[in-house]
Amino acid sequence: MCGIVGIVGHTPVAPLIVDALKRLEYRGYDSAGVATIENGNLARRRAEGKLINLEKRLKSEPLDGTIGIGHTRWATHGVPNETNAHPHFSNGVAIVHNGIIENFAELREELKKDGYTFDSQTDTEVVAHLVARELARGARPVDAAFRALKRLEGAFALAIMFKGDEDLIVGARNGPPLAVGHGEGEMFLGSDAIALAPFTNSITYLEDGDWAVIRRNLIQIFDMAGEPVERKRQQSVGTSFLVDKGNHRHFMEKEIHEQPEVISHTLAHYLDFVGGQAKSFDMPFDFAKIDRLAISACGTAYLAGLVSKYWFERYARLPVDIDIASEFRYREMPLGKDSAALFVSQSGETADTLASLRYCRKAGIPIGAIVNVRESTIARESDGIFPTLAGPEIGVASTKAFTCQLSVLASLAVKAASARGKISADEEKALVRQLSEAPRYASQVLKLDKQIEKVARELSQVRHVLYLGRDTNYPLALEGALKLKEISYIHAEGYAAGELKHGPIALIDETMPVIVIAPHDRIFDKTVSNMQEVAARGGRIILITDQKGAQHATVKTMETIVLPDVPEMIAPLIYALPIQMLAYFTAVFMGTDVDQPRNLAKSVTVE
Ligand code: M6R
Repeated sequence: MCGIVGIVGHTPVAPLIVDALKRLEYRGYDSAGVATIENGNLARRRAEGKLINLEKRLKSEPLDGTIGIGHTRWATHGVPNETNAHPHFSNGVAIVHNGIIENFAELREELKKDGYTFDSQTDTEVVAHLVARELARGARPVDAAFRALKRLEGAFALAIMFKGDEDLIVGARNGPPLAVGHGEGEMFLGSDAIALAPFTNSITYLEDGDWAVIRRNLIQIFDMAGEPVERKRQQSVGTSFLVDKGNHRHFMEKEIHEQPEVISHTLAHYLDFVGGQAKSFDMPFDFAKIDRLAISACGTAYLAGLVSKYWFERYARLPVDIDIASEFRYREMPLGKDSAALFVSQSGETADTLASLRYCRKAGIPIGAIVNVRESTIARESDGIFPTLAGPEIGVASTKAFTCQLSVLASLAVKAASARGKISADEEKALVRQLSEAPRYASQVLKLDKQIEKVARELSQVRHVLYLGRDTNYPLALEGALKLKEISYIHAEGYAAGELKHGPIALIDETMPVIVIAPHDRIFDKTVSNMQEVAARGGRIILITDQKGAQHATVKTMETIVLPDVPEMIAPLIYALPIQMLAYFTAVFMGTDVDQPRNLAKSVTVE
């Protein structure tokens, strides 16, 4: 999940590479580095930590050179220090790498026997040595790279540069994405088109197994047999502007506040509010003709999928198998001809989700993808995409992408229900009307910030938090816990409220806050019983409910956050906001790095 960049340019490239790396920092921010060819020799600057440290380093020790490669790292092999930072060098070879070389241990032993020594603990350094060994054996740079590539197992996007050749970068892709950018007398390579947007919108995506020779006036792409291949050149829609925080302290805060607008855009893309029905749009499969939908995704995107299981089954009577993608890809699920698959991913690059998609591709079933990045690999490999119109999400903790995923899934559930004849035209109209009101309710919830901030102050004092919910509020309980732990580092667990008595109730004492997500719905009373069980054991309840729920909750709470009364179907879209805000304010009180929490990355392109 690192970000890589390469430029064969005609002005000093180091500042341009840093600019591109800023756009890739969402992929990792443990360390960063740049290498160029300066006066015929390889030169590099690397720094531990965020990109800003590399920028400072380059200010005091600038790098010259019109060709260069750069890297922002999310550590897999080796701690995040300067020695492990990329680019890695070996005898005139410089390399940046995103991915994992799975056979690195065996290659390392082999190279050690040949006298190569290792400075870093990374898997990447073996690639630098492999290429250097081929050069030492007499191969020319391009052949040396190709021979080395054939020895690699695992996932990689690579950029390789050679001392003495200021007009050559070799790029290669097997797994993680890699895009080539076409310029006039200059060429570019990057992990995504957004990184290259300040330089060019003319992009060619490498496919798995492709490798490319990149020179100022020439790009050649080959497959792993060494045969030239044609890959489509396309116009990217990536913007050259870096998104800023506006008046907000953090991107996460800004993105939470954007939700009424982006939910509205997303819903309007799929629903005809005036006609009261789902719009017609290109579908990779016909809901009326399938008898099973397999959804898989990771993290927050998985939890959006889990909410939708309730919707698809309840409204469309369509059975849904929902899986965490890292499980789905290996569990050998039988998929019949009447199944369809749906993948949910903000980035569209998540390795496990992509691998699950490819499993379904092999099974021959139709594939749809809900993605925020329309040019991503998952988007490109699907039979049809359902875009979320969230705009770029920069905060590592997913907020607006989640509610936009819910918006798409809710719209698809309505479409499925109608296509399968499970709802009447009037019922469809009613559901569409309810969904159209979601942005307005979301705006109202944002106004509860002062109260939520007060609760967050309390949460920032504790070490453990439990979240409970039933029905669609169960995935929200999981999402609340995920959000809190990832940005505040407080241990949190989400449970189906009915499961409480099967184990987690043992955790309850007067130090344990229990956040209960319970609108006044069909099963509200059941959740009230669970709250009684918590209260009887001294647990401190924070109830997130609506006005009716607040009136009917016969239990003493530490705090009750009262949301507007909303129809059952749209409740997940609205209740997502207070749990995001709670996590956000708690993290602010804890003083953590809200937008770039430790150990995480926005796009997870390794297993
Ligand atoms: O890009 P994706 O939606 O595929 O990413 C999936 C997860 O990595 C992501 O949702 C992650 O769990 C977030 N950091 C949660 O806030």
